[in-house]
Amino acid sequence: LPLFTTTPHWRMAGILEILFFVLVALLILHLRQLWSHRHYPPGPFPLPVIGGMWQIGKILSPDTFLKVLLSKSFTRPHRKLFASADLILSFAKEELERHKEQRKDEPQDFIDFYLLQMEKSKDDPNSTYDESNLAECVLDLFIAGTETTAATLQWGLLLMVSYPDVQDKVYKEMEDVLGSSLPICYEDRKKLPYTNAVVHEILRAKYPLLIGIPRRCAKDMEMHGFHIPKRTVVVTDLNSVLVDPTRWETPEEFNPHHFLDTDGNFRSREEYLPFGAGARACVGEQMAKMEIFLFLTTLLRAFRFQLPEGVKELNNKPVLGLTLHPHPHKLCAIPRCSA
Ligand code: HEM
Repeated sequence: LPLFTTTPHWRMAGILEILFFVLVALLILHLRQLWSHRHYPPGPFPLPVIGGMWQIGKILSPDTFLKVLLSKSFTRPHRKLFASADLILSFAKEELERHKEQRKDEPQDFIDFYLLQMEKSKDDPNSTYDESNLAECVLDLFIAGTETTAATLQWGLLLMVSYPDVQDKVYKEMEDVLGSSLPICYEDRKKLPYTNAVVHEILRAKYPLLIGIPRRCAKDMEMHGFHIPKRTVVVTDLNSVLVDPTRWETPEEFNPHHFLDTDGNFRSREEYLPFGAGARACVGEQMAKMEIFLFLTTLLRAFRFQLPEGVKELNNKPVLGLTLHPHPHKLCAIPRCSA
């Protein structure tokens, strides 16, 4: 992996390049596992899907996001956006066919469960379970699950560079508790209170969503003295909860102690709601938590991240795209001796 060798030239790796590389590698590993599990050889399709996701991310990048959103006419980026979405939709439809052919008694994954639900509700004229909705749900999962986690990981590395003492403390805790040989697993977070607190604080301090997903009220309702009529579109501002000065000790600062008690144990906070709450909370919450914890800890065990020589400070302000990303910047990934 030339990105991670120790020669000065290659040490300089763009944060985006590292993260994209790791994400693609994991996606490919995951797809391979899926393929072997389902006993069919890898076809050429998933690579264009990765390309499609990349394209969507690019079109919804800060440069074009507002243009696409505000434009009244159907422009080239719109066409590209829909073409990329179509690519993922046709991938989902192919998967759907394969799932139908290779049905097992016990449902194995989301598509199997969805197909089962379709069968159960086939006599219900109001059911919304159908094949095209299933493909749209798969597209939603791809879109909702990629940018959010990637932006959080980018912020995570940026914060580790801005707070080297925190980065070293995380590394030391992992070394003391796990040693350097065993790969880390999600269960380990229970033995790593400081590391767990840092991961939580990254998502609180640098929340990647500008606004929540718009929801439409299904019936008239009263809430805290406000009347919300049926069909009103409600958009939550979860960030306001994450930086509420009446709930957090130092809301504007990156401070892992928000999630630690006086004895250094991890403490959950009810005002920590990055994934929303209630019936329509993020369906990917568990997956996102796992991804962020595993990616960050694995990277921090293997490398010490720092600014390139001569760079004195980083821009910590977000840029608006599909999510709130950091500005592009370069970091040095220095291999840890024991890695
Ligand atoms: C840092 C990562 C993530 C954050 C901060 C996040 C945040 C959110 C939030 C705030 C909502 C709206 C909740 C509400 O309206 O109350 C949401 C919805 C959703 N998220 Fe996530 N999410 C993340 C990762 C993921 C992942 C990894 C997936 C899938 C693999 C995913 C899939 C979805 C879907 C499908 C919805 C819509 C759910 C519905 O309408 O019922 N998200 N997410």
